Amino acid sequence: MTVLAKATVLVVLLVEVTIGAEALQDIPEFLHICQVQQPQYETCVTNSINDLKPYLKVGVPEYHIPSLEPLKLKTISASPSNSLTMHANDINVYGASNFEINKIKMDLTNIVFNVDVALSNIAIDGKYEVDGKILLLPIHGSGPLSGNFSECIGACKIKGERFFDENGVEKIRIIDFRMKISVGKGSIKLDNLFDGEQVLGDVVNSAINNNFQLFMREFSPLLEMALSDAFQDIADKIIQQFSFSQLFPGA
Ligand SMILES: *[C@@H]1O[C@H](CO)[C@@H](O)[C@H](O)[C@H]1NC(C)=O
Repeated sequence: MTVLAKATVLVVLLVEVTIGAEALQDIPEFLHICQVQQPQYETCVTNSINDLKPYLKVGVPEYHIPSLEPLKLKTISASPSNSLTMHANDINVYGASNFEINKIKMDLTNIVFNVDVALSNIAIDGKYEVDGKILLLPIHGSGPLSGNFSECIGACKIKGERFFDENGVEKIRIIDFRMKISVGKGSIKLDNLFDGEQVLGDVVNSAINNNFQLFMREFSPLLEMALSDAFQDIADKIIQQFSFSQLFPGA
């Protein structure tokens, strides 16, 4: 090889390595991108998210999309009041991929997205630990937890920001994800309360389920935190594979 040929090979290799490091993912076929200036932009985004549902259900590892069935939550620890401490771990949520979008509002100037979703039926299972008082009753124990919730509404407020990654590519990341949920109906079962003291356990479970809305007032903030955290993580991993202009052409 001549010196020139060697140099050419070297340059080609270098260029390939550099491009390789900076390459963005191409937008996958299943992610339908909407032109920001188009009329009915928000309707287009709604349709695009609806088209994603089957992929969210099973997950797409190549695009860092985890399966939402089940959705796995991080450990939830909180003291909703000073007379109660609760922990829940290994929580699985079933049915989260069956959401319906009620409303979507995209403010691309301030990067604030409001998304209202309806979930007709979700179920959860996992493990709990609880100590203190709930609905004026003493409660204490640890064990398996399960529950069903129907007619749920989730209102999400998502705040993002534009930033340049280490390769100088402009992207978007989520800096705040707040979900408020309201549960229409539901029931919950805490197994093995009071070290398996069945009668006491049944009394407390009945009290909770007979006063479900009151109970949810204490429990919702924990669930909201865990769900917001999980969705922020999922959404952030997906959007950071693409540039801002890939996701929002015309913005
Ligand atoms: C949730 O629903 C399932 C299926 O209908 C039922 O088997 C289970 O007992 C319910 N659990 C609670 C805590 O209501």
